Amino acid sequence: MCYDKEVKVKELEVKNFRNYDFQKVQFDDKVNVFIGKNAQGKTNLLESIFYCCIGKSFKNCKDKDLIRWNTQKASIKFVAERLYTDVKVEVIFDISKKKVVKIDDIPIRKIGDLIGQVNVVFFSPQELKLVKESPDERRKFMDIDISQQNKRYFYQLTRYEKILANRNKLFKICSTLDSVKETVDIWDRALVTSAKTIAFERKKFVEEILPYAQKAHHFISGGKENLNMIYKCGCGVSLDENFEENMSKLLKKNLEKDFKLGYTSIGTHRDDIDIFLNDVEVKNFGSQGQQRTVALSLKLAELESMKEKSGEYPILLLDDVFSELDTERQEKLLRFVGRTQTFITCTDERQIDGKIFTIKDGKITNFGK
Ligand SMILES: Nc1ncnc2c1ncn2[C@@H]1O[C@H](COP(=O)(O)OP(=O)(O)O)[C@@H](O)[C@H]1O
Ligand SMILES: [Mg+2]
Repeated sequence: MCYDKEVKVKELEVKNFRNYDFQKVQFDDKVNVFIGKNAQGKTNLLESIFYCCIGKSFKNCKDKDLIRWNTQKASIKFVAERLYTDVKVEVIFDISKKKVVKIDDIPIRKIGDLIGQVNVVFFSPQELKLVKESPDERRKFMDIDISQQNKRYFYQLTRYEKILANRNKLFKICSTLDSVKETVDIWDRALVTSAKTIAFERKKFVEEILPYAQKAHHFISGGKENLNMIYKCGCGVSLDENFEENMSKLLKKNLEKDFKLGYTSIGTHRDDIDIFLNDVEVKNFGSQGQQRTVALSLKLAELESMKEKSGEYPILLLDDVFSELDTERQEKLLRFVGRTQTFITCTDERQIDGKIFTIKDGKITNFGK
């Protein structure tokens, strides 16, 4: 396998980030393994790498949670080598200010400028629940992937969330349905336009990733079952040329109900992906093993489809996943690991070929082979 062409994080420096005081580290181009007992800072290190790629944490947390307790400022810096140009990303957190993100020493105005610089796929036990848990996880899966490929989508998502919040706020501040009706049209028009972009992109994404997921699933499960995925739009209308018109009508029809509920009951914030094995829905009827295999397949499909679209594999972050998988699945995952620069965390020495870093109490204590 040729690593030369793929993106690589060469160096990382964290200051007052989570339980790290100061740490600078040079990575291996291939496999980097962070080993340590629980609560030492392995996941935190992956989180800092992820942050430099996506501009937010993979945990649902506030930026200030990332700053080391009892300190005011934190920073993460990383240098990545890409196919044509290198890139330096720096994120500076301040307890009392908005974070600053710099690319090659120049502060960026929008986080969208960061997304797509260094693509990443993150995989943790939480993602193993991708198939089983609430639709939130599946929407997050679509959003993080599509946003890295398509900035317009990312901006549209942010826009949609703001419009939706404003529409829902109307229901709180207006005392009568008539007063809602006076202003709701502006939000409805904006919501529908935004929803259209999001829905069509998500549908395209699910269709594009499906063959990769099927291939990965065949590889992991030995080709016993047939995987299928269908994008389920929460807008309640068909995805055709009349989308906007039909969704507008439906919003109007549901207005009284939404007013009573206090929130908007249709829209892309209700989207989901239906996943089937041999036509049986995996979420409700699949065994835990089947659900895990599908989740793993989706993540591996993400790697392959990103490579296909951007010409480069994304970097791969694997947080504690080996402890959750049986030996056979571990071996299959390891075969994919060979394709791109990978960061793995685990609690014990495993037969993983790579550069081993021992992590203890927010310090890398050993940069071994
Ligand atoms: N803002 C913070 N400041 C200091 N310590 C933190 C902060 N956030 C989390 N931690 C600590 O980091 C440790 C967890 O690190 P983590 O990377 O999740 O460990 P693990 O090695 O198990 O992956 C915990 O001890 C937690 O208390
Ligand atoms: Mg951890």
